[in-house]
Amino acid sequence: MIRTFAKDVEEGLSAKNKSLPSRYFYDEAGDRLFVEIMKMPEYYLTDCELEIFNYQTKSLIDSFGMNGEHFRVVELGAGDGLKVIHLLRSLNGCNFTYAPIDISQNALTHLKNRLLSEIPSLDFDGKQGEYFDVLDALGEVEKKVILFLGSNIGNLTDSRAHNFMLKISQSMNVHDKLLIGFDLKKDPDIIELAYDDPHGFTREFNLNLLRRINRELEGDFEVEKFAHVPEYDPNKGIALSYLESLEEQVVEIKAIGKSFEFYRGERIHTEISRKYDLRIINKIAKDTRLRIVKKFYDSRRYFVDVLFEKE
Ligand code: AVI
Repeated sequence: MIRTFAKDVEEGLSAKNKSLPSRYFYDEAGDRLFVEIMKMPEYYLTDCELEIFNYQTKSLIDSFGMNGEHFRVVELGAGDGLKVIHLLRSLNGCNFTYAPIDISQNALTHLKNRLLSEIPSLDFDGKQGEYFDVLDALGEVEKKVILFLGSNIGNLTDSRAHNFMLKISQSMNVHDKLLIGFDLKKDPDIIELAYDDPHGFTREFNLNLLRRINRELEGDFEVEKFAHVPEYDPNKGIALSYLESLEEQVVEIKAIGKSFEFYRGERIHTEISRKYDLRIINKIAKDTRLRIVKKFYDSRRYFVDVLFEKE
C-alpha cells in the first residue's frame, strides 16, 4: 500500500502539471475531516441524499422490485455509513443482507460496529476486496441492489466513470438494480461554497494530502506554504481542487529519495468533482447498456439518486 502511495506521489509530482490522486485524501485524519464536511450546511450533497432516503423510502423500495424475495444490498464505498444508515433503517422489515465492499478490513469492522449499534437486527456481511472482484464473485446466486452514493462517481474523470459503470453493468443480472447518487449542476455560487467553506474543513481536507505525505513518506512539506484553491467551471460542470505553492520552495520526500521544486503560484491538482445534468446521465446509461428505472430528486432538485437496471 505504501509503495503504491509513494509511486503515485512520485509520478504526480514529477509531471509537468503536478497532481496527486484524490483517493489518498482518505486516511484516518481525512476520513474524520470528510465527516465534518458532510455535516456542514454548505456541503448540501449529504442533506439532499438523506432527504431523498427519508421522504421517498416507499417509492425507492417498491422500485427495487424485490417483492419479498431475499436480496443483497451491495454498497461500493460505504465510508462511515452515515448516508446508508437512513436507507437501511427504512429497509428494516425487508428481507435483505447488507454487503458493503471495501478494500480495508478495518473500515468494514468499524462500519459493522457502528451499524449494528444502531440497527441490531441488520444482517451484515461485509466483503473485503476490490469492488469488481467481489461483485464478480457474487455471480447470479441472489438478486442485488448495488449502491454507489454521495456523488462519489463525480470524483472520477469521465472516461474512468464510463469504465467503472461498464464494469458494474457487466456484473449485473437482469433483476439486479443499481442506485447511483449524482450531484446536479446548479447556481455556481452554491457549488463554490460547498468546496470553499467558511469553516475551513475543506481546506484542511485538501492540505491533509501533504500532511499524509509527511507522515507516511517522510516528506517535509510546510503546509502553511500551500493554499487550498477550489475552482468551479460552470460550462464544464466540473469543480477542481488545487494546492497552490505560496512561494518558491523545494520539498524533500525521503521515502521516494527525491526533492521536488515548486515555483511561486504553481499548483498541484488534487481533485475533480463532476456535476451532472440529465443529458450526461442518459448518455452514461446508454453507453453502458443500462436503463433508467426511476429518478429520485430532493425537494430543491440539487441532487438525484438514479435507479438503473440492465438494458
Ligand atoms: C467524496 N466526494 C463525493 C466528495 C466530493 O464532493 O467530491 C469529496 C469532497 N471533496 C471536497 N469536499 C468533499
